[in-house]
Parts: sequence; structure tokens; C-alpha cells
Amino acid sequence: MLLNDRFLKACLGEAVDQTPLWLMRQAGRYLPEYNATRARAGSFLGLAKNPAYATEVTLQPLDRYPLDAAILFSDILTIPDAMGLGLKFTAGEGPSFEHPLRTEDDVKKLRVADMDQLKYVFEAVSEIRKALIQYGKQRVPLIGFSGSPWTLACYMIDGSSADDFRHAKTMMFSRPDLMQQILDINIQSVANYLIEQVKAGAQALMIFDTWGGMLPDGWYQRVSLAAMQKVIALLPREYEGQKIPVIMFTKGGAIWLNDMAQIGADVIAMDWTMSLSRARKQLLALNKPLALQGNLDPLILFSEPEQIARQASLLLDDLASAPPLKAGLHSLDGHIFNLGHGISQFTPPESVTALSQAVIKHSRSLRSK
Ligand code: CP3
Repeated sequence: MLLNDRFLKACLGEAVDQTPLWLMRQAGRYLPEYNATRARAGSFLGLAKNPAYATEVTLQPLDRYPLDAAILFSDILTIPDAMGLGLKFTAGEGPSFEHPLRTEDDVKKLRVADMDQLKYVFEAVSEIRKALIQYGKQRVPLIGFSGSPWTLACYMIDGSSADDFRHAKTMMFSRPDLMQQILDINIQSVANYLIEQVKAGAQALMIFDTWGGMLPDGWYQRVSLAAMQKVIALLPREYEGQKIPVIMFTKGGAIWLNDMAQIGADVIAMDWTMSLSRARKQLLALNKPLALQGNLDPLILFSEPEQIARQASLLLDDLASAPPLKAGLHSLDGHIFNLGHGISQFTPPESVTALSQAVIKHSRSLRSK
């Protein structure tokens, strides 16, 4: 029923005709049509909490560019919001919580998120699935997502975006028991949240561990990675006969690639700090033939179109120089093209046109060689 299943095939390490592409934060402020819908909704949360608006903006980048996947329009902070922490978005300052977790008492009161409070997310998922149908077939698959237990804890404890997440790290070092209680509650909440997204129609799942890369070596594995492993263990590997691939992303985590390969994810999303050929070789040496997603530096999209095309081609050339995931595959199979982090709100929309054209053209031409 899928018109285009390149993304799902690449996640599962199957051969495709061209490299699939989607972009983290592909629906967002760099698109004038997004800003128009957001103005009608009144605010970011007004947009995210209204399934009709969320559906509209999810489809906007797909109507503009030849992308191979849709991603649910929402935010990772919906979970702590549902826990009663009181999420606010202030213009120019980003997210903040009215009731951050600072004391033992705050932590004692914390409960696993009530999925009834998140119904608007699951309604958006099923509405998006319906809206993706064209002439009886689904245009592209829909990705659902969540923040990682650790990344959510960072916001829940510090209460807003911070340079160093001082309060969260201090709790981890000085009251590991409290940190573990929060993580355990987050593990269960994230798993329940992702399971409900799958039931509503999500066809792949991504876990965003945006702040895992802040942790010291050893702490990353014991704290953030272990929590993600527990989440993944709770997820269905299949739903209604379809495999549900799981993508994990730890920003700044390339040094831990070998550890990331052990937790049951199907795809490892990379930031730009490690080349994909190096990552591929490392995974093959471990006998862990996992797919890779990434990893163009989002700031390359501020260059001229020719330069963007050249950098995208170089990224593909680099991966093509590595061995294939399995015998019989092209070296470019098992790769989903993406940025190494979310697209910047200041990106010229034409840059994404140049990028998508280059990925299609060059990944096809390399495969024909
Ligand atoms: O990828 C997509 O298109 C799906 C939508 C999506 C959003 N946030 C929409 C959004 C996804 C997957 C996220 C995840 C998210 N949210 C992460 C993890 C990924 C990452 O970027 O590392 C994090 C850390 C957040 C928390 C968050 N949400 C912050 C720090 C901010 C403010 C910073 C900013 O870019 O303004 C947000 C707001 C947010 N989430 C916006 C969008 C489109 C911009 C809000 C607006 O329209 O004003």
C-alpha cells in the first residue's frame, strides 16, 4: 500500500533504487507555509496540540520536496507536559517548565505520563496517516518519535534549555537514586508513548537523545544508553505484520558507536563528527550490520546550491567507498540521507531543493556503476 517504501527498506538494510532522504525538523520555521499555519494556530503549542494543524504542517515539506518519509509534527516535551510539569514556549527563548524537578519531594510526586493526556498526539498520527493517502496508496511512511529518557530528564530537572544542564547533571552525580527514579518513570512513559504511536499508525520510531553527548564516557552508557535499551526492549518489533524499525540518535555520541550498536536499534543516526564510511566499517568489524542515518552538517545548507550538491555527493562518495552491509547489496544501501541535526530555521528553502536533487541524482548514478 506504500507508493514509496525506500525509507523503510533502507532502515531494514534492503536494496533500494536511490538513497531515501528526510530531514530532522523538516516541518518548521524555514518554510513560509509553516509560519503561516503557526500564525493561524497562535503559537507552537497551539499548532502541536491541534491534530488538524499538526497534519497540515507535517505534509508541507512533502508537497515542496521529494522526501521519502513524513515525521509526526510534535515535540519531545509533550511527555513532561502530560506529567503536569507545565510546558511553555516563550518566543526567542525556547521551551520552559513551570514546575521543574528540583527536590526529592518533586521526584516522589512524579508519575508515569497518562496516555489520555497525549491523545492529541495519537489523533495527529492517525490523521496524518489518512492525509498521506493519494489515489488509494500511501505516499511515504510516517515516523513517530520521542525524546530519550535522559534528554527528557535534562529538561524536566533544569526546566529549560541550558548550556550545561547543570541541575540535571548535579542530580545525576550527587543523588543517583533520584535520577534513577526519574529515568525509570521516563522509560515507562516513553515506551508507552511510542507504543501508542505505533497503534495509531506510526511505521518507524526515532528516539532523540539530543543531550546524551554531554555525559562523561561510562556515564553515557550507564545512564542514557541503558535507559534507551530498556525502552527498545519494551517496543513491538512488528505491528500488524509490518516491521517497525527503531532509529536511535545521540547527538555528539559517535565515539560510542560500538556501544550504541548493542541496544537493539535498527538504525543509528549520526551527527557530522564521524564519516559514514568510518561508521560503516566500525559496525561491520563488530558484526553489527545496522543501517545508518545522516549526517550532513545542517550549516552546509547556507552555501550556494552547487556547493550543497557537491557536499551531498561527497558524503555519498564516502559511503560508497566503504564495504556494503551485506553481500549482494550496494554500499549505499542501508543508508538514509539526513542532516546531522535539525534543519536551522534560517535555512533558505531553495537549499533543500538543491540537496534533494543532488541526493537523487548522485545516489542513482553511483548505484548504476
Ligand atoms: O522533525 C520534525 O519535523 C518533527 C518535529 C519536531 C519538533 N521538535 C518540532 C519543533 C521534532 C522531532 C522535535 C524534537 C525536539 N524538540 C528535540 C530533539 C531533536 C533535536 O532537535 O535535538 C528537542 C531537543 C526539542 C525541544 C525543543 N522544541 C526546543 C529546544 C525547541 C526550541 C528551539 C527551537 O528550535 O526553537 C523546540 C521548539 C520546536 N519544536 C519548534 C519546532 C518546529 C520550533 C517552535 C516554533 O515554531 O516556534
